[in-house]
Amino acid sequence: MTAKIIDGKSIAQEVRAEWKLRADALKARGITPGLAVIIVGEDAASKVYVANKVKACADLGLHSVHIALPADTSEAALLTKIAELNADPKIHGLLVQLPVPKHIDSSKVLDAISPDKDVDGFHPLNVGALATGNMRFAPCTPFGALTLLQKSGVSIEGKHAVVIGRSNIVGKPMALLLLQHNATVTICTSKTSDLAKHTRDADILVVATGKPKMITGDMIKPGAAVIDVGINRMENGKLCGDIDYDSVKEVAGWITPVPGGVGPMTITMLVANTIQSAERAAC
Ligand code: GUN
Repeated sequence: MTAKIIDGKSIAQEVRAEWKLRADALKARGITPGLAVIIVGEDAASKVYVANKVKACADLGLHSVHIALPADTSEAALLTKIAELNADPKIHGLLVQLPVPKHIDSSKVLDAISPDKDVDGFHPLNVGALATGNMRFAPCTPFGALTLLQKSGVSIEGKHAVVIGRSNIVGKPMALLLLQHNATVTICTSKTSDLAKHTRDADILVVATGKPKMITGDMIKPGAAVIDVGINRMENGKLCGDIDYDSVKEVAGWITPVPGGVGPMTITMLVANTIQSAERAAC
């Protein structure tokens, strides 16, 4: 079997076009959805992510504010900036790019963002809302991975989904979203003993370990949908995911490439969450 390739770029475009209609409807009522992105410090990868978030807003005609603060910004100064944006009616979505420098307590930062503007879905209230089935903002990367499955016609209800990774940004919310869609969910980590025993039983496998090519074709159930959230730079400068694409694609039913799979969806869902937040504020 050769897997169907899930084209994240084209699905992201399709989803963005759907959300642009909703943004345009708001704009026709005089409300332009607005996103504020704060970055602290000089992390090169974070700078690229933030620039892409701001560009996605511009592409859809949204208002955006990009605040770049120096690495030695105090925690108090960052919290003051967040409070200012919480109170700004032109801003419907607010995020602080992670990681923040070590002298800043990231949980204080996440707690300070208004839950009503928390388009990352990282505030404890929104994490709790997702866990109790009252989701308000789904974290963007798992929301994007879920959307890829849905748009590709992969059925989720009643299926065994295995998530490898237990981060707050991907693994845990991914598992909750799949559970919410009536999958039977197993959460593993890269340290799970006999990991292959679990992965070979997965109808849906989502991999977010940060370990290049750790999941190989012999670990896959034939016909499974395999979503690769990893993005790793190899010695030759090329990007690869957490699955070994060449061997997995021979066994899986669906597969996401890296790049061009989950990546384009993350920012799309951020834009979607921002528009949805503006819709709620407009009610
Ligand atoms: N760093 C890596 N991924 C993310 C994300 O989705 N949101 C934020 N705020 N920071 C990140």
